[in-house]
Amino acid sequence: MTNKKIWATTLALLLSALICDSKTGVPCPPKCKCRFRQKSAKCGGLQTIPKLPHYVKHVLFAGTNFTTVSDVLLFNLSQNTIASLDFVDTNTVNVEPDAFSAFLNLTHLSFDSNRKLNPDVVPAFLNQTLNLHEINLESNGWNSIPVFMFAGLQDSLLKKISLKNNNIKYVSASFFSDVHSLEQLDLSRNDLTEFNTTGFESTNILTVNIGFNHLLHIPSFCGPLGTKTGNYTTLDLTSNPVYSLNQSSFSCLRNLRTLKLDEISVRELKNNTFADLPRLRSLKMNSNSVHINRIELSAFNSSSLQRLSFGANRFRFDRQNNSNLRMFSFSAELVP
Ligand SMILES: *[C@@H]1O[C@H](CO)[C@@H](O)[C@H](O)[C@H]1NC(C)=O
Ligand SMILES: *[C@@H]1O[C@H](CO)[C@@H](O)[C@H](O)[C@H]1NC(C)=O
Ligand SMILES: *[C@@H]1O[C@H](CO)[C@@H](O)[C@H](O)[C@H]1NC(C)=O
Ligand SMILES: *[C@@H]1O[C@H](CO)[C@@H](O)[C@H](O)[C@H]1NC(C)=O
Ligand SMILES: *[C@@H]1O[C@H](CO)[C@@H](O)[C@H](O)[C@H]1NC(C)=O
Ligand SMILES: *[C@@H]1O[C@H](CO)[C@@H](O)[C@H](O)[C@H]1NC(C)=O
Ligand SMILES: *[C@@H]1O[C@H](CO)[C@@H](O)[C@H](O)[C@H]1NC(C)=O
Ligand SMILES: *[C@@H]1O[C@H](CO)[C@@H](O)[C@H](O)[C@H]1NC(C)=O
Ligand SMILES: *[C@@H]1O[C@H](CO)[C@@H](O)[C@H](O)[C@H]1NC(C)=O
Ligand SMILES: *[C@@H]1O[C@H](CO)[C@@H](O)[C@H](O)[C@H]1NC(C)=O
Repeated sequence: MTNKKIWATTLALLLSALICDSKTGVPCPPKCKCRFRQKSAKCGGLQTIPKLPHYVKHVLFAGTNFTTVSDVLLFNLSQNTIASLDFVDTNTVNVEPDAFSAFLNLTHLSFDSNRKLNPDVVPAFLNQTLNLHEINLESNGWNSIPVFMFAGLQDSLLKKISLKNNNIKYVSASFFSDVHSLEQLDLSRNDLTEFNTTGFESTNILTVNIGFNHLLHIPSFCGPLGTKTGNYTTLDLTSNPVYSLNQSSFSCLRNLRTLKLDEISVRELKNNTFADLPRLRSLKMNSNSVHINRIELSAFNSSSLQRLSFGANRFRFDRQNNSNLRMFSFSAELVP
């Protein structure tokens, strides 16, 4: 008797679950992998976008054929509360201005490895994607980007922009000056030989990555009148052929905490090179590409430095007798 009851209840539950599912639940479509806990879906090999389970908020398309990204293509996603969209190697050439305008919860968007994507289409869709916090435009093979790519975005919420791993030869801070909310900019792995920071003063810039470019000098972070152009906390200049540093290389950076100078090309380190950085806590200077043959005694003079990473520089500390250790006595906060 009790057994029968249990069976009946189980059956009833199963049936109602099935009915419920067919009413509201959309199963994970073929060619997609959905993960309930991450609220994500990853889809490949598609020409159109199927309906996705209602819990999906983060979608990555990879290896699809979405030549034009438009509101029509994205129609099925408008049933979900989409927070992030990544288009990686999606064969995209064009993005229509209003493609994302219905996605009010979209905060993260990427178009990566889309070598046919026309950079001129970016401003119009950015201007209509109102709640975006982060845009990644990486590995698209761009040699240049339009001056107006980020123009007209005074009211946007964009905090992070990445143009990493293109072949961009020229860009300057003035390209980003309308993006008042900007905090992080990644221009690493491009072909920049210079970078003019004038224009950052109208943003909230904190972190700049210009690593893996062709800079011969540390860019000036001061504006034309010697005023600061931003409130930088982190600078990454890794792997640039910078051949000389001195105390004036790091002006107007009074809030800088982290400085990455691995793989640069200096032969000597002069006294007080980092002394004008009163908040500097972490300095990385590994694998200099040429032999550092001279380090002046108070080169690392700093009242704030806590972590110094200085290896693989072919600098023989043992040759310079006891001045080696005295050198670090000028960095009172340095933890050995
Ligand atoms: C929406 O998805 C359904 C099935 O999931 C599909 O049949 C339909 O073609 C899709 N609509 C668009 C506009 O892609
Ligand atoms: C990709 O889609 C376009 C039309 O949208 C079509 O002309 C082209 O043949 C498709 N390419 C592949 C590889 O399926
Ligand atoms: C989506 O955005 C709308 C409008 O900005 C907001 O009211 C709503 O709470 C958001 N939903 C989620 C799940 O974040
Ligand atoms: C962005 O949109 C505003 C109106 O919403 C318009 O005034 C402005 O010109 C647009 N900017 C660009 C670059 O399209
Ligand atoms: C940097 O750009 C500003 C305007 O955007 C210009 O006035 C200034 O001369 C430039 N600085 C250099 C060194 O080219
Ligand atoms: C710079 O940032 C620090 C925190 O990182 C903050 O305390 C300071 O007020 C900021 N200064 C300006 C001028 O925005
Ligand atoms: C620092 O180096 C720059 C060139 O990189 C030079 O113009 C400047 O005069 C030098 N400053 C000092 C104090 O040596
Ligand atoms: C170390 O730097 C501080 C701050 O710039 C300066 O006042 C001090 O004289 C320097 N010490 C030496 C030994 O040069
Ligand atoms: C570098 O600083 C040390 C210690 O403060 C001082 O003895 C030396 O003369 C300085 N070297 C130069 C080139 O100014
Ligand atoms: C220590 O090295 C300096 C050069 O780096 C040299 O001038 C000096 O004579 C050396 N002192 C001793 C005691 O070896």
